Amino acid sequence: MTITSPTVSDEQRAREAELVELVRRSFDGTPNERLKTLLSSLATHLHAFITDVRLTEQEWSAAIDFLTEVGHITDDRRQEFILLSDVLGASMQVISVNNEAYGDATQATVFGPFFVEGSPEIEQGGDIAGPAAGEPCWVEGTVKDANGAPIAGAKIDVWEADEDGFYDVQYDDDRVAARAHLFSDADGSYRFWAVTPTPYPIPHDGPVGRMLEATGRSPMRASHLHFMVTAPGCRTLVTHIFVRGCEYLERDSVFGVKESLILDFEEQAPGTPTPDGREVDHWRRARFDIVLAPAAATQTSNVEVTS
Ligand code: BEZ
Ligand code: FE
Repeated sequence: MTITSPTVSDEQRAREAELVELVRRSFDGTPNERLKTLLSSLATHLHAFITDVRLTEQEWSAAIDFLTEVGHITDDRRQEFILLSDVLGASMQVISVNNEAYGDATQATVFGPFFVEGSPEIEQGGDIAGPAAGEPCWVEGTVKDANGAPIAGAKIDVWEADEDGFYDVQYDDDRVAARAHLFSDADGSYRFWAVTPTPYPIPHDGPVGRMLEATGRSPMRASHLHFMVTAPGCRTLVTHIFVRGCEYLERDSVFGVKESLILDFEEQAPGTPTPDGREVDHWRRARFDIVLAPAAATQTSNVEVTS
């Protein structure tokens, strides 16, 4: 999109440029070089935005009110700032920058707010569903490194919403459901039962939801199952698998969908035997082969700004 700004005189342009330069130079004495880079670049881009759109004082004030509201609704359980970053695609861009393409390494996507440390451990072939309702789905695959060598003992955390679109932590009864972790076998393989993912909305009863509504955007996330895979010497992978055919794949509210992460969740004809002999009427199966990049491919920073 090109912004056609009203004609601004040379004198006015010069005044605006002088101010940006003054702000940039105010960071010249920053001892931490990285912090200096971050703040002077932020000043440049922020001022470019203000001058490009010719931001009005009323718009500036509305933005301050909006951000204040984002702060007020944020607490230990709800992080509206991250949600705002998510719907602006900023979270996905940060993930992209920090998980650079490396050979066939599996693509990363958003973490989301529903991961819980310390989920139950299941055996290979175990069921993560617990009390979560949904169509049973067999998920299997391998964990390998970027050279194709199997990774034994990789920790695989998985979590998802139930068929009503809610994570266990969204219920007020302390249930633990549709989340677990397991470890890959000696040949890198893994397998477990889950429920077939269904679409659900991100929390949209706050300022971010209002922003989506004002812009005609849907709060829905495409159906997905979350994975976090960790193994020594490897870059930690945070990702999802998405259900091919889901109607929200092209308009996921947080821009999390990557073509390489869309899988067939194959419906099984009634009576098809399950891999472990479990008796179920309807079930699906999906295969997700995971490739981890080496840990050396991870970005680090030494910036800390604490009060
Ligand atoms: C999720 O997938 O759980 C999620 C991601 C971003 C925002 C809200 C939810
Ligand atoms: Fe999710």
